[in-house]
Amino acid sequence: TTTDANVQSASSGEPCAGTEQFRDKVCGKDMANLPSIKDAFLLMEDGCIVAYGPMCDLSGTDVQADVVIDATGKYVLPAFCDSHTHLVYAGSREQEFVDKIKGLSYEEIARRGGGILNSALRLHETSEDELYDQALVRANEIIGMGTGAVEIKSGYGLNTGDELKMLRVIRRLKETTPLTIRATFLGAHAVPAAYKGRQPEYVDLIVNEMIPAVGQEGLAEFVDCFCDKGFFTCAETERILEAGARYGLRPKIHANELALSGGIQVGVKHNALSVDHLEFTEDAEIEALKGSVTMPTLLPGAAFFLGMKYPPARKMIDSGLPVALASDYNPGSSPSGNMKFILSLATIIMKLTPEEAVNAATLNSAYSMGISDSHGSIGTGKRANVLITKEISSLWYLPYAYTSNLIDSVILGGKVVSR
Ligand code: NIG
Ligand code: FE
Repeated sequence: TTTDANVQSASSGEPCAGTEQFRDKVCGKDMANLPSIKDAFLLMEDGCIVAYGPMCDLSGTDVQADVVIDATGKYVLPAFCDSHTHLVYAGSREQEFVDKIKGLSYEEIARRGGGILNSALRLHETSEDELYDQALVRANEIIGMGTGAVEIKSGYGLNTGDELKMLRVIRRLKETTPLTIRATFLGAHAVPAAYKGRQPEYVDLIVNEMIPAVGQEGLAEFVDCFCDKGFFTCAETERILEAGARYGLRPKIHANELALSGGIQVGVKHNALSVDHLEFTEDAEIEALKGSVTMPTLLPGAAFFLGMKYPPARKMIDSGLPVALASDYNPGSSPSGNMKFILSLATIIMKLTPEEAVNAATLNSAYSMGISDSHGSIGTGKRANVLITKEISSLWYLPYAYTSNLIDSVILGGKVVSR
């Protein structure tokens, strides 16, 4: 496929100080730099990007493409990488949405058996096939909105059988959709009703039964824990991460959404690939993240939907940190997987520039799921996952026109999957 367009993408760049050499990400002031080529071609073959550059480089060569897409006036960007979702779930929770409008807080709803436990009950009553069908609709929805790679968590099972059921649905999505998918085991999402008042015993179950089962079936790449006020403590999180490590599960954790929970420091200590949410982040947390391998991952859709405070993204970037963006697509705190809208929240509310936001939602979010060597930017040898915008006046128009559908087509693995 060749295109004739503005090709815009994070450069592979120098690895940031103190990071793993083999993985790309962009940090601090480099995030403002989104290299682009005007009037460009992009050549894809066998699912990969094989060449790109200014159109003039193509003249005189004898490239014979099977499919040629003219993208004049459009932008070609790396497909979005959404590194934090819970898009396998049963039903929806608009009842709680209205309860919140009437004044209940997220924590109050959780204490009444709503929230995550509500979704766990529904999931228990839903067959694996039905759960897959519901999740497939969401997977196709996000593809149409420009997402090419996504991380999906378990965590609405909260017993061994239902957690495995969720992870098998994720595996089936991997096999049947063009998305690149990474799976995360999140047994420690909430304490299930059956263990009410017996949280340490539930942690035992996670450590002694669930993680070994997940590990033996090879159903997840990552382990997560909701390390926050009212959910799991730092000590419990450490136990869970250590158990996960025995099965090669790398940590990616929910931290500091509801309080200064210490979760960021725990994540850094255990070489988490990412710590996510971070609405409660102060100087000590920023210091802990500096020079670490852990990507601060921000989920502004959740703060928007819950009407809560946003993480200090500007301060993080100005301190030299990288940041990644993800949707947190889930039924309780962010019922949307629209990454273009996440770009709008990042720019309008968190004051990232459009270039920073695109870097955060592509290369850095690819890093957050351990795939930035193959995803998240336009580079030779990378997977041919790109989105083509409609005709727009500049890249800035993308987050600016915050409800317009500006995604013209989506190419994943070199195939047009949405148009
Ligand atoms: O990322 N923070 C914890 N978990 C989800 C919410 C899940 C739910 O309410 O169903 C989140 O916001
Ligand atoms: Fe989440």
